[in-house]
Amino acid sequence: MSLVNELKTVDILISFIKNLAREAGGICLEGQKDLTSHDLEFKSAKDIVTEIDKQVESFLVKAILARYPDHGVLGEEYGAVQAKSAFRWIIDPIDGTTSFVHRLPFYSISIALEKEGELVLGVVYAPAIDQLFYAEKGKGAFVGDTPIHVSETRELGNAVMATGFACLRAGLEDNNLPIFNEIVPKLRDIRRFGSAALDLCYTALGSLDGFWEINLNIYDIAAGTVILREAGGVVTDFTGGRQFPEKGFAASNKGLHNELIHILAGFCASA
Ligand code: IPD
Ligand code: CA
Ligand code: CA
Repeated sequence: MSLVNELKTVDILISFIKNLAREAGGICLEGQKDLTSHDLEFKSAKDIVTEIDKQVESFLVKAILARYPDHGVLGEEYGAVQAKSAFRWIIDPIDGTTSFVHRLPFYSISIALEKEGELVLGVVYAPAIDQLFYAEKGKGAFVGDTPIHVSETRELGNAVMATGFACLRAGLEDNNLPIFNEIVPKLRDIRRFGSAALDLCYTALGSLDGFWEINLNIYDIAAGTVILREAGGVVTDFTGGRQFPEKGFAASNKGLHNELIHILAGFCASA
């Protein structure tokens, strides 16, 4: 079967990627057993990477390129492999490495597929809690085999949202704390799980009503964006535009988005 034809039979592609994500999850769970503080490398004072992050990315890239040799890849740890076709995979091997290292359950393997620059498929797997979220553009979003949809929450006062603080990890002066202080008192409550990919999936599930963060990278949000959009949600930059995550990243159940952006737009300089 030709490469393009196989990509049209998406069931094959989806099951291939879901199985890869599960195998990568097994690498995480096995590797975590022997993980010690000596296994940590530091991209900066607080930005941790482990051998397991690298092992997972190598495993995923090797398996994907063995099957789709013309595709491109962008991985967090090893960077870009140039594409000879319209397809590019965007991989965060462990989204939430701090959670992983601290043996907290909220970390995930995040795999997205882009076709001609458009995100068309996303798989996010949380191995510690065995939750596999996935979506293909136009075909709905799922956790396991269950269809998922965003919440119906329309008031910020009834909303639970999530955010993150990569900005503090990077030591940014213009950071998320003023935004946090502005938004959180307006919400029912806030959560900081530690994986942007899972924050987007829990918004798609309707458990969260929104998520925002600054200083994210495309590999943090690519797969979760496909899943949230297919669940009826929306992602934009802080002004409501499409220059995310560079100009801030805002995600919601759509009904809350205008109110969320109305607040975030005032902090565009921080984005
Ligand atoms: C991080 C997680 C975290 C978010 C950071 C990301 P990493 O990813 O998604 O929740 O707040 O901005 O960098 O570094 O663990 O892959
Ligand atoms: Ca990440
Ligand atoms: Ca990562």
